[in-house]
Amino acid sequence: MKVLFSNSQISEKVEELGKKITADYQGSELFVIGILKGGFMFVSDLVRHLDLPVRIEFVRLSSYGSSDRPECEVKIIDETGDIVKGRHILIVDDIMDTGQSIVAFKKHLQAKGPASVKICTMINKTCRRTQDIEPDYYGFAITDGFIVGYGLDFAESYRTLPDIYVLEPSDRRDNP
Ligand code: IMP
Ligand code: MG
Repeated sequence: MKVLFSNSQISEKVEELGKKITADYQGSELFVIGILKGGFMFVSDLVRHLDLPVRIEFVRLSSYGSSDRPECEVKIIDETGDIVKGRHILIVDDIMDTGQSIVAFKKHLQAKGPASVKICTMINKTCRRTQDIEPDYYGFAITDGFIVGYGLDFAESYRTLPDIYVLEPSDRRDNP
């Protein structure tokens, strides 16, 4: 597999994002909602660069089974109840691809009456977008390709790698 973004590039970018978000939310409390499972590593790195009062929750979204093809439905497992009401929410995930899962989750959140909702993803994958949405903050943009590492998986493999790699078709055969 080829490294696309090394851990040191990622660290620099996360620090930069942390500074930007800190500046944008000065004087407010920020309510970070991490998306499991892919967002776990990015959330844990990002929050260490937020110089703000921060609360953290996690929800589980699944729009992908064990393949990289999206299904039509997005399953949302959210136990935050109505604590998001009146709060400034930052949704943090690994990647925005079609935009389908975050659109579904944002709609679900809006119904609970938050003060604001913004989106931060480590990767903005642009070429397969089907929804009218963009991340408010992102680390790196890519046009296409399937990537793994730094939380991103292929069939539950590779999530724990510290760098981000492009998965080649031959890697998929070897690691189903
Ligand atoms: P979306 O709803 O199409 O934006 O898909 C978002 C989810 O698809 C992400 O949170 C990932 O779990 C998964 N996904 C999309 N592209 C990739 C990729 O290149 N590698 C690994 N997972 C991906
Ligand atoms: Mg995900």
